[in-house]
Amino acid sequence: MRILMVCLGNICRSPLAEGILSNKTKDLDEVMVDSAGTAGYHIGSPPDERSINIAKKHNINLNNQRARKFSQEDFDKFDIIYAMDTSNYKHLISLANTEEEKNKIRMILNEINPNSFESVPDPYYGGEDGFEIVYNLLNQACEKIKSSIE
Ligand code: 4NP
Repeated sequence: MRILMVCLGNICRSPLAEGILSNKTKDLDEVMVDSAGTAGYHIGSPPDERSINIAKKHNINLNNQRARKFSQEDFDKFDIIYAMDTSNYKHLISLANTEEEKNKIRMILNEINPNSFESVPDPYYGGEDGFEIVYNLLNQACEKIKSSIE
């Protein structure tokens, strides 16, 4: 199972989602997790320090991650593509060329509340507390994803 986490910049939310799910599935050889952004503003950058810090608090290491932009080939490389918010979701749907590609795209918080289409709030312009909220939402969602894989 190959899972891609997608947000806008690939420096705040999706690196954290990647780190949380990778950590939860580290003993499952068949699971591969990656992340990307729909925008290219931060290509090559490490995750935002506030994401690194909240992850570290939970013994998750994001230091080796570098931001990249979502590419068309990701539709072939991944089985499930999780969007963090409705804007990422709509952007990904617009990039999909086939029904099969569209069917790979999901809203990550639908794992907690099916069909709710709730967004993980963008924490970039806020304070540290926003990252705490993002961590808790992603941790719940990734726990559901893990149990659906097992
Ligand atoms: P992310 O957060 O999409 O969770 O990585 C953002 C990072 C950067 C920007 C916006 C959101 N930005 O506008 O540069």
